[in-house]
Amino acid sequence: MSADSRSPLVVTIDGPAASGKSSTAQMVAARLRMRHLDSGMIYRSVTAARLRGGDAPEHWTEQSVLDAATRVSLAPGATSFAPRLDGEDCEAEIRGEAVTGLVSLVAKMPHVRAWVNALVRATAAAYEIVVDGRDMGTAVFPDARLKVWLVAAPDERARRRILQRMGREPTVRELAAEAAELEARDRKDREQTQPAADAVWIDTTGITQVEQVERIVGMAEGMR
Ligand code: DC
Repeated sequence: MSADSRSPLVVTIDGPAASGKSSTAQMVAARLRMRHLDSGMIYRSVTAARLRGGDAPEHWTEQSVLDAATRVSLAPGATSFAPRLDGEDCEAEIRGEAVTGLVSLVAKMPHVRAWVNALVRATAAAYEIVVDGRDMGTAVFPDARLKVWLVAAPDERARRRILQRMGREPTVRELAAEAAELEARDRKDREQTQPAADAVWIDTTGITQVEQVERIVGMAEGMR
C-alpha cells in the first residue's frame, strides 16, 4: 500500500468474479463519502454497444469495438456512476446473458483496455473514487493509496451468487454448476486478474460483509 498523501484518494478493490468486489466497494464508498466506480460495468457497456451492431462476434475487430466504445459514457450520481449507451441508461442490458457471454472477449483487446483505463483515470481525476475490477491496483492506479485484493473460496462465491440471483440457498447440484462456471470465467480473465504486490489481501470466506467493509474503511480513514 502506498501512503503518499499527495496522490488523490483512490481506493482500489480487485479480485476474481463474485468475490464481492462491487457490493463491498459500494458500501466502502458510501462510508467514506466517495463515489463507487465499477470498471467491469464499462467493459460490459462497450460489449453492449458492439452487440447492437448485430453481426456475429467472429467479425468483431478491435477497431470496430473501439468505435462502439465512443458511444459509452458515465453519468455521475450522488454515490456512483451510471453506464450510458448513446446517452441512455444501459444497466439492465449490460447485466444480460448476451453481454456476460461476450465481455471476456472484449476485455482481452489491449486497445480497448487502454480506452477503459483512460476513462477510469479521467473519472478519478474529477472525483474521489472507490473503484473495483481486476487490474485497478496494478495497471490503472499503481500509486493508489489503498489497494485491496478480495478473495473467497469458490464454493462460497458460487453460494453468494445464487443467493443474490434466486434469493435462497443453492442445492448441491446448483452449487457445483455455479462453481464450475465461475472457475471457467476465472480462467478466461486470469491474465488481467492479478493482485498488486502492495495490495492488502482480505479473504471474505469466513467474515461478514460488514466486517470486510469496516476493515477497509478503517485502513482508508487512517490515510486521509
Ligand atoms: O466484474 P464483471 O463481471 O462485471 O466484469 C466483466 C468483465 O470485464 C469480465 O470478463 C472481467 C472484465 N474486467 C476486466 O478485464 N478488467 C476490469 N478492470 C474489470 C472487468
